[in-house]
Amino acid sequence: MYILDGKAYSQDIEKELSIEVDKLNSLNIFPCLCVILVGNNAASLSYVTMKHKACSRIGIESRIIRFDENISQDDLLNEICKLNNDKNVNGILVQLPLPKHINSNTILESIDINKDVDGFHPYNMGKLFCNLDSFLPATPLGIMMLLNHYKIDIKGKDVVIVGASNIVGKPLASLMLNAGASVSICHILTKDVSKFTKDADIVCVGVGKALMLSDNMVKDGAIVIDIGINKLDDGSIVGDVDFINVSKKTSYITPVPGGVGPMTISALLLNTINATKIQHKVVK
Ligand code: GUN
Repeated sequence: MYILDGKAYSQDIEKELSIEVDKLNSLNIFPCLCVILVGNNAASLSYVTMKHKACSRIGIESRIIRFDENISQDDLLNEICKLNNDKNVNGILVQLPLPKHINSNTILESIDINKDVDGFHPYNMGKLFCNLDSFLPATPLGIMMLLNHYKIDIKGKDVVIVGASNIVGKPLASLMLNAGASVSICHILTKDVSKFTKDADIVCVGVGKALMLSDNMVKDGAIVIDIGINKLDDGSIVGDVDFINVSKKTSYITPVPGGVGPMTISALLLNTINATKIQHKVVK
């Protein structure tokens, strides 16, 4: 069994990306990411802080713009409009989830498609669906980069994705399909998830339920990608996979922490640099 070490690979990526930032700086271009955080959700605050620190490590300016959870939808739209029009801002990311009184789709649709480093705008999602060049959502992109790094061929593989969110499951399914896999997506209404997972070559799980994927749900030699991050009562962080038992059967598996999480951050940094290059017409 091999560990798909997202932490180690993301450190290599950061070294390469910081060289890209230096090159942009030498052209008098200074990439800038704005992260909007509404309210005080502890998990969101921790994710946003990690993104901010990663930007600092490679020389990207990052601004965290925080709003009270009672901000109106119109006020939030106004703030995004200002960032869309600010030439010094290259990437805009609205941390999800948003409070219930705000329509997330309306907010995501208001982001300039060329600054949409999360790839959540329906325009960019549609381009992904059509297998056209676009900003790709960070977690699915990070997973594909990790598989590619370990030379795992996806063509013709049976892939099962457990979780059908717009953030991870659906875009990941599109990327896998575009890469030549046969893809099944399981979700909350799936009658028997194990019926799908037990024959799959690659199982990706992102449902936010600790130890959801057990060893009797995967075949020998399977590749398992754990997208979950769950905090247990004792404060420890675990994924959605029963790592100790499942890893005994797998050929490759991602750990939590140190697997998909750091790759998500690297993918966001890459998207921010690419957005900057597109806006400044710098050849990639
Ligand atoms: N909430 C959970 N994951 C994400 C993500 O990748 N981007 C944003 N904007 N919000 C999230």
